[in-house]
Amino acid sequence: MSTHADSKPWTVPALADAKRDGRKLVMLTAYDNSFARVLDANGVDLVLIGDSLGMVVQGHDSTLPVTVDDIVYHTRVVSRGLDRALLVSDLPFQSDATPERALDAAIALLQAGAEMVKLEGAGHKLDVIRFLVERDIPVCAHLGLTPQSVLKFGGYRVQGRDEAAAARLREDARAVAAAGAQLLVLECVPSSLAATITADLAIPTIGIGAGPGCDGQVLVLHDFLGLDTGHRRPKFVKDFLADGGSVAGAVRAYADAVRSGAFPDSAHSY
Ligand code: KIV
Repeated sequence: MSTHADSKPWTVPALADAKRDGRKLVMLTAYDNSFARVLDANGVDLVLIGDSLGMVVQGHDSTLPVTVDDIVYHTRVVSRGLDRALLVSDLPFQSDATPERALDAAIALLQAGAEMVKLEGAGHKLDVIRFLVERDIPVCAHLGLTPQSVLKFGGYRVQGRDEAAAARLREDARAVAAAGAQLLVLECVPSSLAATITADLAIPTIGIGAGPGCDGQVLVLHDFLGLDTGHRRPKFVKDFLADGGSVAGAVRAYADAVRSGAFPDSAHSY
C-alpha cells in the first residue's frame, strides 16, 4: 500500500499533498517515549499529544485540568521517540483564550518538539488561528464534539445531528480553513456531514467518530489498545490489540485498515 514514501519524515505541507493524492492519514495519540517509538516504526503518520491525557493518563473526568506544562512534558518525551511522524500537540483548556496566551503556549509546545498545535472551536478562535498562522505556527483545528466544551454541551454527545447544527459546522469548517488551519479534526459527527465537509475543504480532515469519508483517522491510544480507562467506551472505538497480537501488530493493523478504508466501518460510525 502506498504510504508517505515509507521512511520520509512528514512535514506540514505534505499533509495537503496527501489529500490531493487521495492518501489517507493515520494518526494516534501518544503520551510517552516507548509508545511513540512503536507508533513511529509501524506506519503512523501523525502523533497527537492530546489533552485526553487528563482522562487516560492522569485519571481526571475531563480534559479541563490539563495544563500547558503537562502537554509540554509529554511533547518533550514523545518527540524524542519520533523520526518520521509529525507531532501535533494540544493547546489545553483556555490556554488559547486570547491570541497572546495561545502564542505563549504554542511557543512552549514548539520548543518542546511539536510541529503543529491543535485547538478546539471556531468563533473567537478564528482570530487565534490567524494570529498563530501569521507567526508561522501551524494549526490543526478541532470541531464537532470539542471535549473542552463539555460543560456547555452537558456531556459527550454527537454533534451536528440536525440541519441547523450541521450548517453551523460546515460554516465553521470553512472558516477555520480560511483562517489558515492546515488540518481539521472532526470528532463525533454524522458520517455524511463529515464527508461533505471533507469534500468542501482543500485541507485534510481527520475523523474520530466521524465516519470513513474523512481524509484520515485518529484514535486515543488507550482506546485503540482496549484498555479500561474508567470511562464509557464510545461507539467509534475499536480494540486493535485483540486481533493485532502485539502492540506493533495492532498499530500496523490500524494503519492498514485506515489506509484501505476498512476502518471505520458503519459499526464504528454515526
Ligand atoms: O485529546 C485528544 O486526544 C484529542 C483526540 C480525541 C482527537 O483531541
